[in-house]
Amino acid sequence: MTFHVISFGAFGATPNFGIEPVRNYAEGGTAWLKAVVYHRLMALVEVQSVTKTYPRGVGLGTTERTVVDNVTLSIDEGETLGLVGESGSGKTTVARMILGLVTPSSGMVRVDGVDVSNASSKKLKALRRQMQPVFQDPFAALNQRMKILDIVTEPFRIHSPALGPNARRAEASILLKQVGLDDSAMLRYPHEFSGGQRQRINIARALALRPKLLILDEPVSALDVSVGAQIVNLLRQLQREHGLTYLFISHSMPLVRYLSTRIAVMERGKLVETGEAVALCAAPREEYTRQLLAATPELPTTAISS
Ligand SMILES: Nc1ncnc2c1ncn2[C@@H]1O[C@H](COP(=O)(O)OP(=O)(O)OP(=O)(O)O)[C@@H](O)[C@H]1O
Ligand SMILES: [Mg+2]
Repeated sequence: MTFHVISFGAFGATPNFGIEPVRNYAEGGTAWLKAVVYHRLMALVEVQSVTKTYPRGVGLGTTERTVVDNVTLSIDEGETLGLVGESGSGKTTVARMILGLVTPSSGMVRVDGVDVSNASSKKLKALRRQMQPVFQDPFAALNQRMKILDIVTEPFRIHSPALGPNARRAEASILLKQVGLDDSAMLRYPHEFSGGQRQRINIARALALRPKLLILDEPVSALDVSVGAQIVNLLRQLQREHGLTYLFISHSMPLVRYLSTRIAVMERGKLVETGEAVALCAAPREEYTRQLLAATPELPTTAISS
């Protein structure tokens, strides 16, 4: 089975922001069949008919409120699935169910072939190495009393407790370099950094255990446009270098289109449209998707720099 990664200099009708989108394509006359086999074999994340309900109200009158409604989606290894939808549509709840932080009311989430809700604690611990979250607020996500060295190497405390101080320092140096920071950051504290730098530190920590999957929940929404664009470019570069798989949640359709292989659109808990990113943005099937596209203007081409 042959798969090639092809880089396109242009990105449909949108400008190339300096970093080339990378897509996986099967080659040859039976491409569709290979794609099906590839998908079956390689889907890293499988969300199957997942529903999440929460109780509404208390006492005798308690009813159920469905916040994620029968959602099925998958993320192939190496791709970025963009998840979009208005506030409250259930995006974070889906992300938290993939991370095993919220248990589905029904349906199944599998990551790397492991049923997240029914895994043994040993399997879950191994799985937690493979998937790491990056959240919206880079300041809140960092312990203000910890030095950056300790923050980015914190995951080793749990997963590789035998790692000595020199090895941890060496790891921190590699991780910081990967996100565009140097060793001088190690002995400083989070408040000494800008928002963009803090998000780089969060990403460094997320990469510490060499995960396969990053769950990126609005990772640039708290940053101004140009800083956010730099982080998005960094994410794309890291994906290329490390073959990472992303779930990228954002309100910004241009950013989602720029980073994603495919896009899934959520409305009030339901998945209303899924498709290849460029095609979906060029010709959305659903009126709701059209509205989302209209609601977020194009990025200025100067916003994203390589
Ligand atoms: N623990 C909880 N208990 C009760 N309701 C919850 C809980 N977590 C989320 N919800 C509700 O589920 C719905 C979906 O929330 P979720 O955070 O998944 O939306 P979202 O699409 O990520 O929104 P946003 O874009 O604002 O981040 C919301 O109405 C929210 O109030
Ligand atoms: Mg959210």
